[in-house]
Amino acid sequence: MYVCMCYGVTDSQIREAVNTQGVGNLRELRAHLNVGSQCGKCIQMAQQVIDTTIIDDSLFKEVS
Ligand code: FES
Repeated sequence: MYVCMCYGVTDSQIREAVNTQGVGNLRELRAHLNVGSQCGKCIQMAQQVIDTTIIDDSLFKEVS
């Protein structure tokens, strides 16, 4: 699913950036993928994807 239409960034690209590049917030995500630096409409959704990816990760780590 596309999160940022201006730059054609998908939720899986954001998740990958969080998991492999250590992106932990919107500022870092912008530095990697430009998300939110044009119209800004995607910022809330992008933040949600970052948050849920980090939460999912921490849940997974507790289980294993
Ligand atoms: S949709 Fe992301 S900057 Fe416009």
